Amino acid sequence: MELPVLPVLPLTDTLERPMTDLRISVTDRCNFRCTFCMPASQQYRFLPREEILSFEEVTHLARIFVGLGVRKIRLTGGEPLVRTQLETLIRDLAKLDGVEDLALTTNGYLLAQQAEALAAAGLRRVTVSFHSLVPQVFGRINGLGMELDKVLAGLAAARKAGLGPIKLNVVPIKGMNDAEIVPLARWARDQGYTLRFIEYMDVGTVNSWDEGAVLSAREILESIDREMPLEPVNKNHPGDVADRYRYRDGGGEVGLIPSVTQPFCGDCSRVRLSAEGKLFTCLFGVVGHDLKEPLRRGASPQEIESLIRAIWQRRTDRYSEDRTAALRAGTFQPTKKVEMFRIGG
Ligand code: GTP
Ligand code: 5AD
Ligand code: SF4
Ligand code: SF4
Repeated sequence: MELPVLPVLPLTDTLERPMTDLRISVTDRCNFRCTFCMPASQQYRFLPREEILSFEEVTHLARIFVGLGVRKIRLTGGEPLVRTQLETLIRDLAKLDGVEDLALTTNGYLLAQQAEALAAAGLRRVTVSFHSLVPQVFGRINGLGMELDKVLAGLAAARKAGLGPIKLNVVPIKGMNDAEIVPLARWARDQGYTLRFIEYMDVGTVNSWDEGAVLSAREILESIDREMPLEPVNKNHPGDVADRYRYRDGGGEVGLIPSVTQPFCGDCSRVRLSAEGKLFTCLFGVVGHDLKEPLRRGASPQEIESLIRAIWQRRTDRYSEDRTAALRAGTFQPTKKVEMFRIGG
């Protein structure tokens, strides 16, 4: 008797959210010390080398995730470009059948020397964190006085290497770079980059987050719209984090990521793999699920697949929605959670 061919059901969590985006942190180290992520005033202990997944291990796990429905892979850190020979990982990930998008989030400092090799290995595009156009402010935000010029050179190299469309992430913070909302938007537009403003979030535990320092997406939108009128554009995919706007007079777009004032957990399809092989189902997770242990003990791909499947099916995360409700009710209390630089944002 011939067995019927059963349709493969998409993997969904308890809130019917599919798992389509994988964010892989390749290192917890960074050459910056951004005030809102890993302030320079603190000491950090980084993972010892043997605790970090090898590129072969990352590719092995990524293949399993792709088999479960992941279509988009983004490499993050810490700063992913401090990991040597990242292009060898990219070459292997680019070969996985089913991957429709392969991107990288970087602070851009090492991009000038690596852009060409990354593109040649199969990287499609980069998103560069870019918080100020004023060298002194840029240096203050990155905590170490790192030069803006290096990042500008990185952007130029990324463009030359075809790593576009290039997006820039800005975290606007009151009293820090809030005077630069419109200048940054204008500059990015002139340069042909898509600028996205990310509301300052209470990620991790070390950034002393204060709701009073958050510039809301609405305030940002209004400031830009006053100078350069905007109109909304539909999201490409329901799980995208940015609300998109285009300039009414043509030419360019700007995005707003309102994770604090208008959280988007309802469509969150992102799964995160830390450099030490822990799976996090939320940016604000407390503990990750260890995939390295089964991997190194020799578990079969099927066993690891079942483990991931079970984790995702049990997933209930909606931290940002809960936090925002608590802020409105006046009951918000900071809690223990994973640091941003360990899972890459
Ligand atoms: P595209 O693929 O270009 O749309 O990029 P992306 O928006 O998925 O990736 P990117 O890393 O540039 O996301 C921008 C930023 O939004 C992240 O670095 C985080 O700071 C924030 N962000 C992304 N995903 C989430 C999320 O699931 N929850 C929250 N609260 N913030 C997120
Ligand atoms: N809030 C919002 N965005 C942040 N990022 C880092 N820390 C925070 C925070 N506290 C940004 C980075 C980068 C992306 C990974 O997240 O600047 O663009
Ligand atoms: Fe800044 Fe990104 Fe490094 Fe954090 S990981 S300190 S946000 S460059
Ligand atoms: Fe997803 Fe967690 Fe962010 Fe909500 S807070 S969008 S569940 S990562």
